[in-house]
Amino acid sequence: MTIAPESRPQLPVTVAPHYARGKRAAATCRYKCADACAHPAPNLSANEYFRDVASRALSRRVMLGGVAAAAAAVVVGAEVLGAEPATAAPMHSGGRGRGLAFGAIDPQPMAIDDFVVPEGYEWSPIIRWGDPILPGGRAFDPARQTPEQQARQFGYNCDYLDILPEDPKHITSMVETRRGKRGVLVSNHEYTNPQIMFDASYDAATRRAIERAAHGMSVVELRRDRPGTPWEYDRIARLNRRIHIGSEFVVDGPAAGHDLLKTVDDPTGRKVLGTLNNCAGGTTPWGTIVSGEENFHGYLRVDGSDPRDARYGLRNSPTGYGWELDEPRFDGNNPGFENENHRFGWVVELDPYDPDAAPVKHTALGRFKHEGANVILSDDDRAVVYMGDDERFDYVYKFVSTGRMRHGNSRWAREHNKTLLSSGDLYVARFTGDSPASEIDGSGAVPSDGAFDGTGEWLPLVLDGESQVEGMSLEEVLVFTRLAGDAVGATKMDRPEDVEPNPFTGRVYVACTNNSNRGVGSNAAADEANPRGSNRDGHIVEIIEDGGDQTATTFTWNLLLVAGDPEVNDSTYFSGYPAEKVSPISCPDNLAFDADGNLWISTDGQPSAIQKCDGLFKVTLDGRRRGRVEQFLSVPRRAETCGPVLDVRDSMAYVNVQHPGDDGSWDTQTSYFPDYLDADEDVPAGAWRGPRPSTIQVYLADVDDEHPGRGKGKGRDDRHDGPGPFPGGRGGQGRGSRNRSSFRPEAGEQFRG
Ligand code: FEO
Ligand code: CA
Ligand code: CA
Repeated sequence: MTIAPESRPQLPVTVAPHYARGKRAAATCRYKCADACAHPAPNLSANEYFRDVASRALSRRVMLGGVAAAAAAVVVGAEVLGAEPATAAPMHSGGRGRGLAFGAIDPQPMAIDDFVVPEGYEWSPIIRWGDPILPGGRAFDPARQTPEQQARQFGYNCDYLDILPEDPKHITSMVETRRGKRGVLVSNHEYTNPQIMFDASYDAATRRAIERAAHGMSVVELRRDRPGTPWEYDRIARLNRRIHIGSEFVVDGPAAGHDLLKTVDDPTGRKVLGTLNNCAGGTTPWGTIVSGEENFHGYLRVDGSDPRDARYGLRNSPTGYGWELDEPRFDGNNPGFENENHRFGWVVELDPYDPDAAPVKHTALGRFKHEGANVILSDDDRAVVYMGDDERFDYVYKFVSTGRMRHGNSRWAREHNKTLLSSGDLYVARFTGDSPASEIDGSGAVPSDGAFDGTGEWLPLVLDGESQVEGMSLEEVLVFTRLAGDAVGATKMDRPEDVEPNPFTGRVYVACTNNSNRGVGSNAAADEANPRGSNRDGHIVEIIEDGGDQTATTFTWNLLLVAGDPEVNDSTYFSGYPAEKVSPISCPDNLAFDADGNLWISTDGQPSAIQKCDGLFKVTLDGRRRGRVEQFLSVPRRAETCGPVLDVRDSMAYVNVQHPGDDGSWDTQTSYFPDYLDADEDVPAGAWRGPRPSTIQVYLADVDDEHPGRGKGKGRDDRHDGPGPFPGGRGGQGRGSRNRSSFRPEAGEQFRG
């Protein structure tokens, strides 16, 4: 019933006239980040640049003697040093499954509208935009959408993803989660794209109401016959839940109830309707989800009288979404709603195991364009949260909770743990390089000491419940956190997205996705932590907290990768691993770890940067192959890869596929993922001949052979009416990396074994 991948027509890139090299689709720019690139980066602060502090740092290194240098040397590419770095071994080495062994796939040209997995694997959707998850939800029909139906369906543009076990007590060390026969899927829904979601029959107000209902988060129960086999979702289940713009949030932490958070609709400053632009997130050790409210400025108009608003890119002009036409609160020119914008831009926490618990906005973690948040426990069980502010020239943050996590799965312990993010210390990062400024010329050339590396400090913004920023109250620091970072001299980074601690080693990885303005005009010049001018491809910073203490206020750092396609770009760097042996990679966005201790990177922007579809990549962190990048999957035309989850035990991987075919229109779609209906076939109930952001599962192709009674590759059976049979079961690429002339995996390395 679906078009076979090999006979699927490949759409010409010329279908969208606004597409050009270096540009996102116009719709994505408008709706995802409110055309952020078309405006100057809002960080106009005069923070001292790296160059200015390099010599001071050098003296500090000399004073510290060999300690800092030795710490940094550990992480320099092993190929260069000719030695295996001394790193902690993963606590878990595989599991009972066959692991995630694969031969790297070929990078896919950007026009390919296909989801590509390695030889030996298959894929199918778990759930797609529009699939009903609540009572009263009907089979998806995009020509007959209503706000009420959308609020009962899986939302649009899924981003953060986790597949949790049925019982939170099985969330042990985050990557060793035991996922049995029942699970709980949690997903963010970041933004909407009306030009491909709606035909011309919708009036504008209805369209906008549907879009509001398509934002937010989803919780969906899953089931399968046994671990390692594909999941299907339960259309009606106790935990199923949609969070959208009408959902009530509780505000907590030091700024809750402050005047800066009050509106005429909420004179308490403690209750907010809705969450916006939820991008990445994390799963806490106590089994809740934290989710980042990112580009909230795209939904809220301000009156322009407060210069602090400009630091967040907020403007006194109509928003791209136009919601201010429907609800007065989205326009700060309306009396009583001047503070509505202060009520977005937070980290929110959702307990997926308690469908009655209100989600919470945590003011203690500061307000900025939160990409996401990732939690690791310190040795004394405090929750340490790492966070990125995804804007050109913005900052990396760390929060350390006042309280300590209580172990065990009693209700008492869980309720206590859900208060951990309500109070604690907040820091912002300053990175200092150890190489002379003259060697950091913006070209990306590795300095003479062989590494982009140095030392760093966590600069305090809040300690013991008190502001550490001169001239700013505690509440002001939390509501205008960007300005607090400016005041203390944080380092301007190249769009920090996921900031993810490795649960095995405690090292922290920062995905700096790109920054085409680095070193351009009056913008900050290249520094050792952001070493390329006009950085189109991004890089990964590795942070090593001093003393192995997550609560430390000093650290060393180095760049794990300086990304790009080595075939066309000589400024790439892979920790000394030979560039001709890696998969090309650009625009790192979301990060994850597998139980074998490998880093996984999903990308957002490869079509623009290197003319390849975005994908999911494994990066070896330890040993002689540190820095080796291998592409595991490729997402369809114009999509971004989000929310990777790796399950070594079950030999499965999961990703959210966001904005497939974002350069299309209702009449001229450019992606048909994932239903891939043939042009002349009838459309089954719940299917669509158009692009649907979806959660995808990847599994071993022979898993069904071992399990008779299950259709090969079928993602679900017919027990539910509505969504109809899913496509799927598509085989792996089969070509692997072996046909790519410049890519020669070392003998015996194709499979982990
Ligand atoms: Fe929503 Fe920073 O990506
Ligand atoms: Ca250096
Ligand atoms: Ca992202």
